[in-house]
Formats: sequence, structure tokens, C-alpha cells
Amino acid sequence: MTCCETSKEKRDGLLFLDTAKLSEIEKYLKLGLLDGVTTNPTIMKKDGVVGGFSAIRGRTIEIAKMIYPRPLSVETASPEGNKEELLDQAREFSSWGTNINVKVTFTTQKGEPNTDVIAQLTKEKISVNATAMMSISQCFLAAKTGAEYVSIFLGRVANMGYDPSEETRKLRKLLDRTGLPAKIIAASSREAFNVIEWFMAGAHIVTVTPDLLKPCIDHPYTRETVAMFDGDAANWLQEWRDSVI
Ligand code: G3P
Repeated sequence: MTCCETSKEKRDGLLFLDTAKLSEIEKYLKLGLLDGVTTNPTIMKKDGVVGGFSAIRGRTIEIAKMIYPRPLSVETASPEGNKEELLDQAREFSSWGTNINVKVTFTTQKGEPNTDVIAQLTKEKISVNATAMMSISQCFLAAKTGAEYVSIFLGRVANMGYDPSEETRKLRKLLDRTGLPAKIIAASSREAFNVIEWFMAGAHIVTVTPDLLKPCIDHPYTRETVAMFDGDAANWLQEWRDSVI
């Protein structure tokens, strides 16, 4: 099963974890809340994957196996913007697991487009997650060149003074209207509320750090309500427990 086949099964309302921490991935996988994982060089470094290329390969393969058949994004890098280097990395990364897709930044750090890299990888049937995008036009162009995922960094979009939900609404409308099959990954979340806010705006996928997922789950009033139910179940619970011993 290829990455693209896997992700076609369900296209919307998907929750990805933006982390390289195995314990968090395992936790949310077991909880049934995880639809995929996204990483980048900064996340890898922050999450302790610092033993060079073999460490990146090791952690990537470990995560890919752990979450299979859910997708995992791993990011290419070439500070000089060397296209051949990006292509070679992408080919190697994608060979590590059929559920691995390759992140390619939409431009180099000098602003040169990587649309040719995205198009070539798409031609080779390597799934691309076009990343580090801050505008609808970047996402649209990445989608046109074949990216399976378009990652828009909405927290940064908001920091630049734009309304992230409005941008997402427009982008979703544009993709739907043009029939481009790319899935929007809403990334760079800043608040727990962003998860629902961005799904409502039209993101197919929201990727979130584990610490922002916790407040989406726990609520003091839910705890209090569960305590009430548990207290009122006391009149039959012991009898039930004794009966199943
Ligand atoms: O998934 C993208 C994300 O990791 C970047 O987030 O918080 O650095 O804007 P941030």
C-alpha cells in the first residue's frame, strides 16, 4: 500500500501530531486519536534526534513503523537550494517506508521556488508535503505542481497580521473549485482552540504539538461530572466487581 493510497481512504478531519517524540506518538496512537505525524529538522532537533543522519533515519523508520499505515512527513534540507540534493534526499526518505511522504519547502531560503522539485517527485510517484507556506498563492501553486499535502503555517500567518481562518476558507474554496486533490495541513498552531477553528475553516488536516492536544481533551467540569457518575455508581459497582471475580 502506498502513502497516497492510504491517505485517500479518509481525506478530511484528520489530526496529525507535530512531533518526533516516540512516547507521545505511542500515547495518542493507543488513544485512537492519531491520524498521522509531521516532523521537520527543528522538531527532530528539539525532540532529541541529534545523532546525525543515521539518527534521523532511525527515528523516521521507527515512527513510520509505529504509525503504519498512517502517513509520516519527513523534511528534506539543502541550505544552498541544490535541487539534485533535495531530489536525492526525497528518494531516499521515501524508500524507508511506504507511508512516508517527503516535505519540501515551497521556496529555498533565497526565495527560489522548489516547484520543479515537487513536480519531479510527483512524476516519480513520491508523495510531497509542500511546507513552510504562508499564503494561499504558495499553496495553490504547490497543489498545481502535484503536492499531496500543502502545509500552511497559520500561527505565523496570524503573526504577520492576517486572519488564518479566512485564509484557510479561501484556500479550501479554491482547491475545491479547481478540483486540485491536495489536502490542506493547518500547521504552526499556537492555541488549543486553533484545532477546531482551523477544521471549521476548511483544513483537511490539523497538525498539533502534544502539549496543545492535552487541553483539547481534559476539562475540569468533565472531571467533576465523571466524579459524580462514579460516586452514584457506587451502589452497584462493588456488586458487579464481586460477580466478575
Ligand atoms: O508544522 C510546522 C510547525 O512545526 C512550525 O511551527 O511553531 O515553528 O511556527 P512553528
